[in-house]
Amino acid sequence: MAWTAPSATRAPQPTYQQLLEWGPVLPSGTDGVVVVARREVDEVLRHPEVYSSALTVGDLSADRPLIPLQVDPPDQKKYRKLLDPLFAPHQVKRLEPSITALAHELIDGFAHHDEVDLVSQFSLPFPSQVFLTMLGLPLDDLETLLELKEGIIRPHVVVGKPLRHPEVTAHQEQTARRIYAYFEAHIDDRGAERRDDVLSHLLDAEVDADRLSHEDVLDVCFLLLIAGLDTVAASLECFFVHLAEHPERRRRIVDDPSTIPSVVEELLRWETPVMLVPRVATRDAVLGGCPIAPGTAVLALLGAANLDGDVAASPGVCFDRDVNRHLAFGGGIHRCLGSHLARVELRIALEVWHERIPEYSLARDADLTFSFGVRAAESVRLVLGSATSAGRGEG
Ligand code: HEM
Repeated sequence: MAWTAPSATRAPQPTYQQLLEWGPVLPSGTDGVVVVARREVDEVLRHPEVYSSALTVGDLSADRPLIPLQVDPPDQKKYRKLLDPLFAPHQVKRLEPSITALAHELIDGFAHHDEVDLVSQFSLPFPSQVFLTMLGLPLDDLETLLELKEGIIRPHVVVGKPLRHPEVTAHQEQTARRIYAYFEAHIDDRGAERRDDVLSHLLDAEVDADRLSHEDVLDVCFLLLIAGLDTVAASLECFFVHLAEHPERRRRIVDDPSTIPSVVEELLRWETPVMLVPRVATRDAVLGGCPIAPGTAVLALLGAANLDGDVAASPGVCFDRDVNRHLAFGGGIHRCLGSHLARVELRIALEVWHERIPEYSLARDADLTFSFGVRAAESVRLVLGSATSAGRGEG
């Protein structure tokens, strides 16, 4: 089954359900497996001594491992101890008024229009501007940072040639050098004068009397750029397409905005914007009855695990779950550092949007293409208001 095909990234749930019937662990490529069942995905995430993140280095043309994502314990734990306080709930809470103001400001730009491209006008600029403000980077750098992020994550799309084509690799490597140079300059600025921003705090943060080295700070910033900009944007794209296609669910939000926090959790589970996480086995193991040799590439398919009927009694969409223990933010020691920030951004985006624009639907000729891995859309054209369109009445 072509689980990486565009139709599968656009609406992956039927593919996940099929894979779960075949699972729990399936062969993938020549030297890898894809892990689909919840129990086995949990096992991979909770055993970094067997399933290493450090051995996944190299995919993004970075000079060194991204911190803390491509670092195994014990160092990974040390880095998290230092980084967790910067992204803790009380830090994110301080940002809520400015995040709300930003959502209004962006919506002011198109609320009176008949149609909007969600991606260029909302889902990309919204989390990206929050990220710039949090790190203390100039808002004028937005376009540059989006270009750098795209050049690292989807160089094949930027260049228009297949992955691993020499021109694609060259573009990704050149982008990596630009990312280092960009952050070098800003770290130098903060070296001279601290401010109240994450970049300054990274320079001063201490764990067990240790500080991050200059290279460590660069490697954290490199990761934050990728992790902070793409994931929330992709989530918004998945969420708004879902709600445009299910008017009855959208109306529930409009009628009762207090349900939005559970809607966010349920759409994170159902849509799982980050489809999978990679690991490499470091020793012999057995996973779901399947022998795993050292060096095996192990893809934990979070999206499938989130629909596993053996653990969730009803895997279909339900906005009234009391408990929602999904894996959209991963699990175990590498569980998402930015989950509190992401949740606040997603909640505020849904609250402000539905208060301002209760009626919307997909444009009749909207061409929806989602990327593989992180399910980001190239464009999502929405018709605003109660004008006739393809989505209307099709829920
Ligand atoms: C809805 C949005 C988001 C989703 C779905 C998401 C998802 C994930 C997932 C699945 C992982 C685990 C990766 C693995 O185990 O290999 C992860 C890790 C991470 N995320 Fe997020 N993320 C989101 C937003 C953010 C934001 C806004 C930031 C930062 C500002 C962020 C920073 C990170 C970092 C630094 C890690 C690595 C943590 C570690 O290795 O210890 N994420 N995220």
